[in-house]
Amino acid sequence: MELLNGNEVSNLIRASIKEEVLKRKAEGKKTPHLAAILVGADGASMTYVAAKEKDCIEVGFDSTVLRFDASISEEALIAEVEKINQDKNIDGLIVQLPLPKHINEKRITEAISYKKDVDGFHPMNVGMMFKGLKTFLPATPFGILKLIEHYQIETSGKNCVIIGRSDIVGKPMSALMLQKNCTVTVCHSKTKNLSDFTRQADIIIAAIGVPLFLKADMVKEGAVVIDVGITRVDNPTNKKGYSLKGDVDFEALASKCSFITPVPGGVGPMTRVGLLLNTLDAADLPK
Ligand code: GUN
Repeated sequence: MELLNGNEVSNLIRASIKEEVLKRKAEGKKTPHLAAILVGADGASMTYVAAKEKDCIEVGFDSTVLRFDASISEEALIAEVEKINQDKNIDGLIVQLPLPKHINEKRITEAISYKKDVDGFHPMNVGMMFKGLKTFLPATPFGILKLIEHYQIETSGKNCVIIGRSDIVGKPMSALMLQKNCTVTVCHSKTKNLSDFTRQADIIIAAIGVPLFLKADMVKEGAVVIDVGITRVDNPTNKKGYSLKGDVDFEALASKCSFITPVPGGVGPMTRVGLLLNTLDAADLPK
């Protein structure tokens, strides 16, 4: 078994981004600039946005975080998005999800200029991705592709089973693995006899958010297992009061796999680097 070490690979990519930014600055080119909008005070969202800001600063990007009270109206939020759309100094914009219930996430996602949509959530970018055209890929699937490429994992002709059909991970991942010549199956909460599918899989990508869902008897010998799940599970013995658990029962599965991601330190850091790569690309798009 070989560990798919997201910390190590993401650090290599960060170093190359850092170098690229220095080169851009020396050549008088624009410094990439990411703006993030955070609405309300959801703990996980605050942590994610803080991490994204830290990542930007670390690689030499400019970073702006706009924070709004959870009571902001949908119209007022759209007006803020439009201001950033017009701002020639900002290359990429993300609105951290989830948003408060009175705000329609679809409307907000569609209000972001697709040229600044470094999350890759805008229908224009989703369409481009499905057609295999160059565009902003959603950060987690993008990060997973980078991990697969780094470890030179064979994909052509392989059976890939994706567990989960979210717009952010499962659906885009299915299109991207198809482009890598896999035979792709997407399983979800209504799938019957799910292990009949996973036992046939050469590559399994688990993205359902159910801690320790994938057990050893659901996986064939030699499979590649990629765990997108990262759920906070109460743990009073831990200083933070919780531990992070993936969708995969790592302890039970690891010896059976050819490659497996740990949680934490697998997909998580690759997602963060995916957003940085998109922001770097966004800096060269005409505004
Ligand atoms: N919430 C959970 N994941 C994401 C993400 O990738 N982007 C945004 N904007 N919000 C999220």
